[in-house]
Amino acid sequence: MKTILITGASTGFGRALSTEALKRGHQVALAVRTPGSVADLVEAYPGKAHAIRFDLTNPLDAERVVKETLEKFASLDVLINNAGYGLLAALEESTDEQLARNLETNFTGPFRLIRAVLPVMRAQQGGRVITMSAIAAYANHPGFAVYGGAKAALDAACDAASQEVASLGIKFTQVIPGPFRTDFIGRSLDQSPRLPDYEASVGKFGGFLSKMDGKQPGDPAKAASAILDLLNEEKPPFRLVIGAYGNNTFAKKIASMEAELNAWKEKGLPTDFLPGA
Ligand SMILES: NC(=O)c1ccc[n+]([C@@H]2O[C@H](COP(=O)([O-])OP(=O)(O)OC[C@H]3O[C@@H](n4cnc5c(N)ncnc54)[C@H](OP(=O)(O)O)[C@@H]3O)[C@@H](O)[C@H]2O)c1
Repeated sequence: MKTILITGASTGFGRALSTEALKRGHQVALAVRTPGSVADLVEAYPGKAHAIRFDLTNPLDAERVVKETLEKFASLDVLINNAGYGLLAALEESTDEQLARNLETNFTGPFRLIRAVLPVMRAQQGGRVITMSAIAAYANHPGFAVYGGAKAALDAACDAASQEVASLGIKFTQVIPGPFRTDFIGRSLDQSPRLPDYEASVGKFGGFLSKMDGKQPGDPAKAASAILDLLNEEKPPFRLVIGAYGNNTFAKKIASMEAELNAWKEKGLPTDFLPGA
C-alpha cells in the first residue's frame, strides 16, 4: 500500500486515478479546489481517502498540501501531478492574464509541488513523481501555443530533475495523452475571441476539438489502470504515451524530426571549431 497525492481529483484523469488507486488499497490525498467534489470518495473509503483544498495558482498551497498529507497519513510515496487545463488561443490572441494563469497552472504550480515533495522523498530515499503531460508538448497544434509551451517546459524540468535524483531512488514518469474523454475540451477549456486571420488555423483546430468533445477515443479508466501499474515497475519509463492518437502522433513527430535533422546535417554540423583549435 502506497500513499499517493493526486491533484485535480474532481473529474477526468484525476478522478479515474483516485478511484482506481483507492480500489487497489492505496491511501489517497485528493488535492482539489473544491473538497465537496470528492465527498463521495471520502465517504466510500473512510480513513483511506482524504480531501485537501488545493489551488495550483496559490504559491503557498504546495508546501501546505504536502504537510497535510503527512499529517494525515504519516507517509508520502507518490505524487501524481495531474491537474491542468487547456487554453485555445493563437499566440497573438492570448492576454497577459491568460498566459500567467495557464503557466501558473500547467508549469509553475506543478513545479512547486515537485519541489515540495522532493525533501520527503530524499529523506526516505525513494518515491515516484508522475506528471500528466500532453501530446501538445511534443507535436503541437495551432491554438495551443501557451498550453503546449507550459507542458513542454514541465517536461524539460522533469527531465533534468529525474537525472538529479536518479541515484536517490526517486523515479519520474511523464504521461503523454492524446484526446481522452474528460472535461478537458468541455467546461475546462479557456478560449480567446478569434481574430479573422486565425480562423483557418486556430479556428479549424477549435472546430476539430468541439466535434470530438464527448467522443474522444481515450478511456481515462483504462489510462488510470496503466498508470498505476507503473508503481509495480522497478524501471518505469520516463515517458509513457497513452492511446492510439498519442502514439501515432508521437511516432510521426519523431520520424519528421529525424528526417529534418538528416536533411540539414550538412548545414548544421560544420559549425564546431576544427580539431585542435
Ligand atoms: N483529456 C485530454 O484529452 C488530455 C490530453 C492531454 C493532456 N491532458 C492533461 O490531463 C490533465 C487532467 O485533465 P483532464 O483531461 O482530466 O481534464 P478535466 O476533467 O478538466 O480535469 C482537470 C482537473 O484539473 C483541476 N484544476 C484546474 N485548474 C486547477 C488549479 N488552478 N488548481 C487545482 N486544480 C485545478 C480541475 O479542478 P476543478 O474541478 O476545480 O475545475 C480538474 O480536477 C491535465 O493536466 C491536462 O492538461 C488531458
